[in-house]
Formats: sequence, structure tokens, C-alpha cells
Amino acid sequence: MRVEDEEFFKGFIRMADDGWNMGWHERNGGNLSYRIKDEEVAKVSENFIQGEWKSIGAVVPGLAGEFFLVTGSGKFFRNVMTDPHDSVGIIEIDEKGEQYRIVWGFINGGVPTSELPSHLMNHQVKKKLTDGRYRVVYHAHTTNVIALTFVLPLKDEVFTRELWEMATECPVVFPDGIGVVEWMIPGGKDIAAATAKLMETYDAAIWAHHGMFATGETFDLTFGLMHTIEKAAEILVKVLSIRKDKLQTIRTDDFIKLAKEFNVELPNRFLN
Ligand code: 13P
Ligand code: ZN
Repeated sequence: MRVEDEEFFKGFIRMADDGWNMGWHERNGGNLSYRIKDEEVAKVSENFIQGEWKSIGAVVPGLAGEFFLVTGSGKFFRNVMTDPHDSVGIIEIDEKGEQYRIVWGFINGGVPTSELPSHLMNHQVKKKLTDGRYRVVYHAHTTNVIALTFVLPLKDEVFTRELWEMATECPVVFPDGIGVVEWMIPGGKDIAAATAKLMETYDAAIWAHHGMFATGETFDLTFGLMHTIEKAAEILVKVLSIRKDKLQTIRTDDFIKLAKEFNVELPNRFLN
């Protein structure tokens, strides 16, 4: 079977194009990865070649032998739909979780995203904590979330509570909250470690003055999470632009009622 004909591939391409259409991927901004299921690998592996082993830049023993579909470094999300063979590729992780090799795609000599350490370290945490259910890691340059990182204190509690208040469904969509990473140099293992640590608690992490990471089980859920958070941020930007204090909002006792009705647990530190 051709990789291009598989549902996981089509879903990946569609998600990248949706992100482009949202305005979250200027130039080569943002990246996407998907941990391919064994049965999906089995269907398409006849097309695989074996590239040279290269260092991941992080150590992820929990992902030994896994295959990932990933966007390429320097590739534009704008081109993923029209030129996927150039923009994306499949990589295999070695048995120690130290190296990867390209087995498909990147036909013009491309390489995986420079944020590969962050993607893989997040995948490693989520694979373990969700018994393998989570398969998608998504990084986008979400305009309004980035704007807020200049005016709100860079604290998980502040971002979570402020964004929860912006739309009634927010605490239902991300009941565990959102983590915040202070400004760090992107593309390396330090920011990857800081992000992966937050992913032990949250499904989404904000990178100050840069963007956001979201993780999830499916393309729909991961894109939906990114979209929900960015939309809440857009509302907050509008509210703050109108006046600096809120005349009314969703209050702590409202959140408690909501949690009961929707059967979600909201951590106390975001309620007080
Ligand atoms: P890549 O083009 O290497 O994926 O980098 C884009 C980006 O958003 C870096 O944070
Ligand atoms: Zn980025």
C-alpha cells in the first residue's frame, strides 16, 4: 500500500493544512508529528528505504523501534498539502532511542523538524502515561497565546484560570490546565525537557514569546485542543483591549458546578 493512500497520512496532511489556514504557521513556523500504529507501519513498510542513522539530540528509550510521520525542518505548512513528499517524512527510532533514520519522504534531502527533541520527549511521556493512546504532538505559533505571554505572569495557574474564564467549555476541554515554559532557546534538549516535564501534568504547554505545544489521541482532538486554547486567548486579548478589568466573569463556584455537571475534576490550585 502507498503511504499517501493511508488514512493516518491523509489526516496528518489535512491537519497541517488546517493549521496553515488558521494563520498559525507563517513561513516554516510550527511542526507536527504522529506516532504510527504497528498495523499502519506493516501496511506501508514495503515502500521504506533505510537512511543513515543520525542523532536525535535527546534520549528517548521509551520510543525504541517506533515510527513517526513528521514535518521537515524549514518546510512551510503552506506547502504540505500540495507537496507532501518534500515537506514531510517518516522516521524510525533505533533500539536505544538515541538515533533516527529517514525511511520515507523528504525527497529533496529534507530532515525532520528542529523541534524533534521536544516532539519525541513529549511523545515518550504521553505514550507512557496514556498506555499508548496519545499519538499526536503539535507545535503552532498561535498569535493570541503568544501575545498574552507579554502581559500575563508566566505561571500555569494564571494562564489556566484566565483562559478557563474566557469560554464555558474551556475547563471541560482542558480540565488539567495548561503549563507555561518561560522564554528559552528553541530546538534543543533543554526546552524539550522543560516541556516534557509539563506534559506529565498537562496536554498543552505554552512557550513564552514563541507558541504552543498540544498533544492528544487523534488529529481531531489535538487540533481541537490547540484551537480551543487559542480561541480563548483571542477572547482574552479582546477583553483586555476593551478594558483592563472584567465587569463579570465565570466565578469559582460556577466552575465547581460546571465540573459536577460535566463530570470533570478541576484541580484546586486553579479554583482558588
Ligand atoms: P522547523 O522548521 O525546524 O520545524 O522549526 C520551526 C519552528 O517553529 C521552531 O520552533
Ligand atoms: Zn516554533
